[in-house]
Amino acid sequence: MNATIACLPGDGIGPEVTREAVKILSVIAEVHGHAFGFPEHPMGGIAIDTVGSSLPDASLAACREADAVFMGAVGGPKWDDPNAADRPENGILALRKGLELFANLRPVRVQPQLVDASTIKADVVRQVDLVVIRELTGGIYFGPRQEADAEESSAYDTMLYSAPEIERVVRFAADLARSRSGRLASVDKANVLASSRLWRRVATRVLEGYADLDVDHVLVDAMAMHLIRSPGQYDVIVCSNLFGDILTDEASMLAGSMGMLPSASLGERLNSLGRPLGLYEPIHGSAPDIAGQDRANPLAGILSCALLCRLSLGLDREAAAIEAAVDRVLAEGVRTPDIAETGTEVVTTAVMGDLVAAALRA
Ligand code: IPM
Ligand code: MG
Repeated sequence: MNATIACLPGDGIGPEVTREAVKILSVIAEVHGHAFGFPEHPMGGIAIDTVGSSLPDASLAACREADAVFMGAVGGPKWDDPNAADRPENGILALRKGLELFANLRPVRVQPQLVDASTIKADVVRQVDLVVIRELTGGIYFGPRQEADAEESSAYDTMLYSAPEIERVVRFAADLARSRSGRLASVDKANVLASSRLWRRVATRVLEGYADLDVDHVLVDAMAMHLIRSPGQYDVIVCSNLFGDILTDEASMLAGSMGMLPSASLGERLNSLGRPLGLYEPIHGSAPDIAGQDRANPLAGILSCALLCRLSLGLDREAAAIEAAVDRVLAEGVRTPDIAETGTEVVTTAVMGDLVAAALRA
């Protein structure tokens, strides 16, 4: 198969983890007889510095033409001026919106070898295998907003959802739940927010068409608690943009580290293979404190490549091979510093990538 994977390395540890992702996809291409291209495009802080925009038009156009997009991470203290006209994070939001990626999948699977790496008790995290579907192109991230005025007296953001925006993401989550265990939890704050009351009504109506599913509506504050108390009871969780942002950082701690969690963002746009054009990225940020030190965990990026193979390229066997290679390397006791425990061997970003590559070739 020929495929073009647009790469947006971004800032901080973004380029380091992108390098390992490309390493792994190159081995996949070599072992399974595919031809993948990895053109790189500027985005984030580096794009503000070099091109003058966090998402240059040419980068967005190239992503639209690609079969899949891989992104490292964006942001850093250099671009943190609250009065700046553009910010690295705007680039991600513009990319999600520009590719109409309304559904963000964040699977949280606890690797058996890492149950003790979590700060939560092993018995609680052992059973975790859930997916959060976060709505990605609406809600408070995109509603009308007013920055603070000169007197710094007030500012606002608006959580705005239309019924079709809610409907399509709930449908997406329900279809996924059907292919898994059949359990779906829809998260909202319907006891307070009007947009959440609409969310609950629309979700209820959509889910009437999925009578086979075991559906629950859970308030977001309660979900924050349940995710720590008894995460094993959840399978698919669907929520709005902001709630998903917060709950997935929390859920990542079940898996031991933000450095372990991949993500995929999908919409209705198809690639040249007739499959969904997706954006794949680790859920972690640019980690400026460890950037350039070869200490970052590349596994979230590498596991995102497995999702990329499966969802945008239809390469199930290759996806499973990547996941198995990661399992094997972890089983050998190899760790990056974020997941290190006594008795494990701590390696660099590049060595972790090399070991996964070697496991793929074995
Ligand atoms: C994420 C990140 C982004 C978000 C930031 C970097 C804009 O936290 O992907 O979860 O809030 O969506
Ligand atoms: Mg986040």
